[in-house]
Amino acid sequence: MKRILITGGAGFIGSNFVRMVLSEHPDCLVVNLDKLTYAGNLENLAEFVDHANHKFVHGDICDETLVRKLIDEYRIDAIVNFAAESHVDRSITGPRVFIDTNVSGTLTLLEAARDKNVQCFVQVSTDEVYGSLGAEGMFTEQTPLSPNSPYSASKASADHLVRAFGHTWGLPYNITRCSNNYGPYQFPEKLIPLMINNALNDKPLPVYGDGMYVRDWLYVYDHCTAIWQVLEKAPSGEIYNIGGCNEKPNLEVIRLILSHLNKPDTLIQYVKDRPGHDRRYAIDASKIINELGWKPSVTFEQGIVKTIDWYLDNGPWLAHVVSGDYQKYYDTMYSGR
Ligand code: NAD
Ligand code: DAU
Repeated sequence: MKRILITGGAGFIGSNFVRMVLSEHPDCLVVNLDKLTYAGNLENLAEFVDHANHKFVHGDICDETLVRKLIDEYRIDAIVNFAAESHVDRSITGPRVFIDTNVSGTLTLLEAARDKNVQCFVQVSTDEVYGSLGAEGMFTEQTPLSPNSPYSASKASADHLVRAFGHTWGLPYNITRCSNNYGPYQFPEKLIPLMINNALNDKPLPVYGDGMYVRDWLYVYDHCTAIWQVLEKAPSGEIYNIGGCNEKPNLEVIRLILSHLNKPDTLIQYVKDRPGHDRRYAIDASKIINELGWKPSVTFEQGIVKTIDWYLDNGPWLAHVVSGDYQKYYDTMYSGR
């Protein structure tokens, strides 16, 4: 039996990964360590919380004693580190916690993995570590790191630490760098679920700047299968870009959402831009496709319809998530724009 410590498994991508592992890989024990910040939600796991192969632990990746105890108690042989502060806008208003979790937390995991001879450490990173592209070109694994936001700087720092642990102590590791994910259970601070939620409530859709910033969208399930391939097949020390070849300007995505929901384009409202906003991301994923045989299961056109329909079908989940502190966050983040 494979025994995996998954961190951040109650967040958006982590919970999709936990669901996939428990559904498709019955020979796996999943120990899910999550602090349950505003972004962590056990409702994302619903029927899987009490699954026989799932042990949920409410705790912090910065808690060295807890991390070491879990590795010993469950005889962990692989760690997949999803836990992070993940929202660029929040990193601009309050960067400190990004360093605490994304850098110090990763260091705590790495030291424990090294000392306890964990056989594989997968760091879930992001294409944002590469910085921003102009009109042409794509990020490859050789693109120099040039992070522009406190969020991406913290993720790049963690990537350097992971690599350094491999180089200095021989820790077996892989790093994955993925483009923008979308799909079920995404917290509505990110573009797609925020626009769906606002459109459903006939609220203005806040478009930063000219709306022509380009992101390269990947359906979350496809990100999860890519990480699984890395865990199963990747030689240690390799870095893999993950992306679905779906570059879209934000306005195109927003118009698609409005049209699928039968809402008017007049809901679009141009607002003040994000400081230091990266213009364009585009991922060259040929390495993981050619070397590990991964490929995405849906096109953007299929995935976005599945996603919008998921939000329509899961009204109670959405209503719960936007109750409480979400409104306070929204008012603070968007009132000055
Ligand atoms: P998310 O914000 O939805 O979830 C993060 C999870 O980590 C939450 O459950 C939260 O409670 C938990 N967490 C935060 N601090 C913690 C701590 N100190 N200890 C334990 N748990 C903690 O994030 P996401 O969008 O699911 O992203 C997951 C990972 O994937 C992150 O590392 C992110 O950088 C990376 N990533 C995200 C995207 C994307 O488009 N969302 C793309 C590429 C890479
Ligand atoms: O590229 C991978 C990264 O994608 C991940 O590492 C991050 O964790 C994830 O949050 C995401 O970062 P972005 O900054 O690209 O995602 P976000 O959803 O915040 O914004 C997507 C685009 O939409 C970006 O150009 C900013 C714009 N935007 C966003 C919001 C929330 C708007 O125009 N209006 C908005 O209200």
